[in-house]
Amino acid sequence: MIPDGPGPLSGAALLGPRGQEILAAIDAAREFLESHTEEELLSRVGQTIDEIPRVDHLTKDVFQASYGGRKPGAPDDVLTGLGHFFITEQRRLFLDCTGGHYQMTWGYRHPVLTAALAEAERLGILWDAHSNIPGATVKRLSYKLVELCNPGLQGIAECDASGCSVPGGLDTVLLGICTGSVACSTALKIMLARHREARSDPPVVIALEGNYHGTDIFAQSMRGMWTGVVAGAEFVTLEPNDVQAAEEPFARFGPRIMGFMCEPVMMNREAILVETGYMRRIRELCDEADALLAVDEIQTGFWEPGFFHYRRWGITPDLVICGKGMAAGLHPLSAVIYKRPLDVLAQYDAISTNGNAPLAAMIALHSIAMIEQDAERIGAAAESITAMAHRVKDKFPDRIDAVHGDGHLCGLKLAKVNDALELHRRCVERGVWVRAHAYHEGHSTVLCKFALTAGPAAIEHLGGTYEELLGG
Ligand SMILES: Cc1ncc(COP(=O)(O)O)c(C=O)c1O
Repeated sequence: MIPDGPGPLSGAALLGPRGQEILAAIDAAREFLESHTEEELLSRVGQTIDEIPRVDHLTKDVFQASYGGRKPGAPDDVLTGLGHFFITEQRRLFLDCTGGHYQMTWGYRHPVLTAALAEAERLGILWDAHSNIPGATVKRLSYKLVELCNPGLQGIAECDASGCSVPGGLDTVLLGICTGSVACSTALKIMLARHREARSDPPVVIALEGNYHGTDIFAQSMRGMWTGVVAGAEFVTLEPNDVQAAEEPFARFGPRIMGFMCEPVMMNREAILVETGYMRRIRELCDEADALLAVDEIQTGFWEPGFFHYRRWGITPDLVICGKGMAAGLHPLSAVIYKRPLDVLAQYDAISTNGNAPLAAMIALHSIAMIEQDAERIGAAAESITAMAHRVKDKFPDRIDAVHGDGHLCGLKLAKVNDALELHRRCVERGVWVRAHAYHEGHSTVLCKFALTAGPAAIEHLGGTYEELLGG
């Protein structure tokens, strides 16, 4: 049925003249990671791993400059990884304290997910399909998201029609979208469509100062980019957790406000935690102004045992956005979960061609089940990260102003920008991969977001590294 054609090419041939050597290096790195215990790996973090052959790796000379293009020096990109460790082309072993780029929920090549992937492929689960004919895994994932957003709901676990409509609840899902940027823009378009239906004056959207809701031009306008281009809307940003400052724009713009959007832990602004009391008041203000409340859980949704940070606030948003780690990094898959009366967009208003992926949905279901089954250990890891950060802060009260974030999403706010930059640089030099927010005025935070594989040993390695460097 599949026409005869050329047989599969070797991976080496596809990578060009040095393909064989490159693949051998990747394979040796895989073998190294798989044949060592976590303790052994931690003892070698930052070292060059001589068991891996030295190879001339491919350069990035045609990459965009902002993505490392045309940088002098030997390339040192990723070779392979396992759990919360990865090895670079220059054969250095890293402890990844950031879960890839905050999207590898279970780190790299988790054996359970790798086996699930092979099994799904064997069963014939499709890589992708048209959004008009979603496969069983995509449909099941939509029910699972509704179940997670409406705990205790009857029927939904069996995909039973009795649970399909939750008056006032989050019972509708748009899943045919790929990236978080498309999910955020979808939520904004829903706000816009609803506003347009009721009013003809320019809409106002409120977000938090330092927000990041993806790369759509509307979302970028919300953070002050492209000033004046999106002229038909007004953008207001607020300082997080300042209730008084929030009252003013709600009073000033009232029903012109189409919605408020925020993420629970601001991973583009020093991991600032948005507080429960603040969000409860925002919910009231949105209700008074008939504005929609959208919570961007792209960072937080699948990074805690209870799923979806907003649930701790004791309020129901109108729209919940998730993505990033939902499919554990296999393939971008995101979703907006919202209240049924907001089901107002047409199919091509918000869609991604590759967003209806049965295989990615299968991995998402696996990843969610793993979080459910491992909730206790994940909760304990979250507490250990917080405790570690506070211990470091208490040891260096002159250097560290505060601990930011919550659980796995954790920041150390340093008193001085230079200390934050230096701490970040030296951590990376030692093979401890963290991130820094110290490039905008007032920012001086070093951040981590461990993959859910990380336990006490990895967390203590990070804590010990912080302590040694801050003490030095
Ligand atoms: C809070 C938040 N919203 C939206 C996005 C955009 O997601 P994506 O990069 O998948 O488009 C990100 C990505 O980092 C994010 O962290």
